[in-house]
Amino acid sequence: MTTALITGATAGIGAAFARRLAGEGHNLVLVARDTERLRVQATELHDRHGIEAEVLTADLSEDKGIAAVEARLGDRHQSVDLLVNNAGFGNKGRYLEVSMADELTMLKVHCEAVLRLTSAAAAGMKERGRGGVINVASVAAFVPRGTYGASKAWVVQFTQGAAKDLSGSGVRLMALCPGFVRTEFHKRAGMGTDSIPGWMWLDADKLVTSALADLARGRTVSVPDARYKALMGLVKVAPRGLLGGVTSRTGRKYGPQ
Ligand SMILES: NC(=O)c1ccc[n+]([C@@H]2O[C@H](COP(=O)([O-])OP(=O)(O)OC[C@H]3O[C@@H](n4cnc5c(N)ncnc54)[C@H](OP(=O)(O)O)[C@@H]3O)[C@@H](O)[C@H]2O)c1
Repeated sequence: MTTALITGATAGIGAAFARRLAGEGHNLVLVARDTERLRVQATELHDRHGIEAEVLTADLSEDKGIAAVEARLGDRHQSVDLLVNNAGFGNKGRYLEVSMADELTMLKVHCEAVLRLTSAAAAGMKERGRGGVINVASVAAFVPRGTYGASKAWVVQFTQGAAKDLSGSGVRLMALCPGFVRTEFHKRAGMGTDSIPGWMWLDADKLVTSALADLARGRTVSVPDARYKALMGLVKVAPRGLLGGVTSRTGRKYGPQ
């Protein structure tokens, strides 16, 4: 039996990964800040699928939290075969409206935690000659979209580089770049979603199916869904100035402070 560790497992895309992997018979290590929510989820997945689901409470915006997950990933007696670095969030506001503390927290969770956890997992995977890491980025990585887009661009670049360096080792690394997905993300970030057209929304369970298929194919970057593949094709040829105007507005309507 293999084990998958998922960060940000309590909601949205992370919870969809947990459901899917439990359904396929993988044991799980579920990571997030809300212990009670993690416990309920672990019990449900254990009861429904007969798998072992461990709860690991950790705040990935703090060194202590990152270190606790690094320690679990480095435990040679209970190896982790698949790491899904998924925990993430959006800040409420545009550049200079967001406090420096919040900007830095985003870089800690989206970049430092991803670097440290990927490295803690990949070291053991390389020794065993097998394993996988999915780093959840975003299509925002490819367009001008504040610190959020910049942090996700780092995730894509880092993952592609690490995948190249580990090619032939049996360890697969992939950056997953979703478009808009119906989760708790937008509400938590105080973003209004009325301006986002219906056709742009993706379903978290279908996204996970697509992501796991792309990992199995050996892709290092996955952009699920034909709609977003086509959009990203346009992004490559669109003038940067025009792109910045459209992409920095879409889905970035914030509610009252
Ligand atoms: N939804 C979208 O449209 C979309 C699009 C592209 C990419 N993404 C990316 O997908 C990933 C998952 O987002 P989602 O849409 O599923 O959002 P979500 O429904 O809000 O879930 C976010 C998860 O991350 C956890 N989390 C947040 N901050 C954390 C921290 N400091 N330490 C540990 N866990 C933390 C939350 O759990 P706790 O609150 O219990 O800690 C929750 O489980 C993120 O990286 C996001 O950037 C989302």
